Amino acid sequence: MRIYLDHNATTPVDPLVVEVMTRALTEDFGNPSSVHYFGQQAKARVDDARGAVAALIGAEPSEIVFTSGGTEADNFAIRGAAEALEPSGRRHLITSGIEHEAVLNTFKALAKRGWKITMLPVDASGIVSPDALRAAITDDTALVSLMQANNEIGTIQPVAALAAIAHERGVLFHTDAVQSAGKIPVNVRALGVDLLSLSAHKFYGPKGIGVLWIRRGTRMVPFLMGGRQERSRRASTENVPGILGMGGAAGLARKKLADEATRVAGLRDRLEQRILTTVPRTAVNGARDPRVPNTTNISFERVEAESLLIALDLEGIAVSTGSACSSGTLEPSHVLRAMGLPAHRTQSSIRFSLGAANTEEQIDRVAGLLPRVVEKLRSLAGAAVR
Ligand SMILES: Cc1ncc(COP(=O)(O)O)c(C=O)c1O
Repeated sequence: MRIYLDHNATTPVDPLVVEVMTRALTEDFGNPSSVHYFGQQAKARVDDARGAVAALIGAEPSEIVFTSGGTEADNFAIRGAAEALEPSGRRHLITSGIEHEAVLNTFKALAKRGWKITMLPVDASGIVSPDALRAAITDDTALVSLMQANNEIGTIQPVAALAAIAHERGVLFHTDAVQSAGKIPVNVRALGVDLLSLSAHKFYGPKGIGVLWIRRGTRMVPFLMGGRQERSRRASTENVPGILGMGGAAGLARKKLADEATRVAGLRDRLEQRILTTVPRTAVNGARDPRVPNTTNISFERVEAESLLIALDLEGIAVSTGSACSSGTLEPSHVLRAMGLPAHRTQSSIRFSLGAANTEEQIDRVAGLLPRVVEKLRSLAGAAVR
């Protein structure tokens, strides 16, 4: 039995979504810009999908821009808004050290082009303080980008409060909701943000399709030049199968969210509790509340995280040492480092991210195995030191 506990890296595509996408590849193959029947058929389906994604986040369909994924949504949000604000003379941007690379590397690129960047400090809780944001905003600030849920530790930022602080000073607010959508209710009006990123493959949709939600009236400079697709905000013929898949996944996520969040939180808490009580010298990284229901990040002191990942993989259990982009390297997680955790915590941390296919039986198998696996790795490490 293989057990998949890496749903924050990606999720399996829901079988109903596969059906929708298969139909899109065979029947709805038209180009939505074409005037004839085939084109209009595809356009109607894309419009339905746009409506389904909008409904998941409490938005208007006309505010949804389909992108090639969460990374493009983040890049577009930050660069598009920053460039649109360039003539205003505002040249300062704010983010935090625990953001996804899609945000951090966009900020770095803008820094090279002369933008001033402030990285907000985050303490061991993994939560950005509203006071820190208030203190960082200047008359020069154009945009703040702070994620809603962190991909490595699952903590949820007080986005509504943070966005309100930005707006008091006339500053735009972007949030990366890639890890929160489908896990907790996300409503763009309640959050009061201007820009919000989504990625379908984190909620049982396909890879390579995402959304940037742009509040009506927000000025953006597009960075794909070409045709007039997506109301001229993102050129290129629509990825119809991807869009329909994302629409299908959004509809399912909306329907299942409440029940699934409760079920998965129960499993996550069971796993966490069993690890903390049966494996010595373990600790949860980041605040346990507020946190998305499926994620726990735990340090197993005196165990190399990669060794534990491989030992678990050999037992058929898939976990992660942090973000998928940095696994395979021995670099400790930038998130845990930004939180100020010591090396013995950052180098021994494992992310368990649960999802739809996980059962109590699976969780009990993982929890039952871990004390032995960890004990063995610790004794090997001890022998190596001696
Ligand atoms: C918080 C966050 N933002 C953005 C992304 C990038 O999304 P995509 O893989 O669709 O480009 C990810 C994916 O790992 C993520 O976890």
